[in-house]
Amino acid sequence: MTQTKGRKGIILAGGSGTRLYPITVSVSKQLLPVYDKPMIYYPLSVLMLAGIREIAVITTPQDRAQFERALGDGSQWGVSLTFIEQPSPDGLAQAYLLAEDFLDGAPSAMVLGDNIFFGHGLPEMLADAGKQTKGGTVFGYRVADPERYGVVAFDAEGRASQIIEKPEVPPSNYAVTGLYFLDAEAPARARKVTPSPRGELEITTLLESYLNDGLLNVQRMGRGYAWLDTGTHGSLLDAGNFVRTLEQRQGMQTGSPDEIAFGQKWITREELEARSKMFGKNDYGTYLAGLLK
Ligand code: G1P
Repeated sequence: MTQTKGRKGIILAGGSGTRLYPITVSVSKQLLPVYDKPMIYYPLSVLMLAGIREIAVITTPQDRAQFERALGDGSQWGVSLTFIEQPSPDGLAQAYLLAEDFLDGAPSAMVLGDNIFFGHGLPEMLADAGKQTKGGTVFGYRVADPERYGVVAFDAEGRASQIIEKPEVPPSNYAVTGLYFLDAEAPARARKVTPSPRGELEITTLLESYLNDGLLNVQRMGRGYAWLDTGTHGSLLDAGNFVRTLEQRQGMQTGSPDEIAFGQKWITREELEARSKMFGKNDYGTYLAGLLK
């Protein structure tokens, strides 16, 4: 009997970010600030909240060094980070091919490096998705502009029947968020995906292969959650303002890998203290120091 391997994480942080030009001419989009932290801290935090400690970060070859500088090897957070280069941005499903060796037969949770999630009950929702050993779980979130995303079509019984990438006429208002829990078969299934008319290995095609086999759970993320994307200048600013509003009102951080690592008991008090000293007297350092009290 082979034992089921522990779920591993993937953060897809490739892409040229052309929609954010001229800002992203010289800096990777996923390293831009969302209020007080680099964007990639937020999706990383989601994987850490899901209890995942082995994570691959997929970047463009030219941006890799900057990501390594921003994140290190993960040991400061009790996780292990592996960096994988995506030579050209050929679609989200390509991530499973690039990460196949890293996954080594393990199930995965992939999150897009520009997706931000917030909500009470997120850890429980992630834990439920993580328990599933066969098939996949994705999250449907109601948005005002579904045509910008992968969209779920539902049948008369309210079951997901189709997922369509950026449909001109959206069959529902439910977008598929950039967080995908898939079983160990994902790389094998991704290999069967053929490029779409826009030349990409679409994640929706991979998800449809699960859906058609009756193996995809589309979980609705209710209105108590915030799912923000940062694909345009406006939505990037909105996300920053959202985080700022929350943090200032509550006096708590959102998307802090340091806090999550400490909460998960993956780092000791001494290690957190060392981190807080590294940030000195700025708000982030003071906040981390406060967690020690
Ligand atoms: C991608 C996916 C889409 C998904 C979205 C979530 O779109 O192709 O299915 O809904 O991420 O952020 P992109 O951001 O590449 O346009």
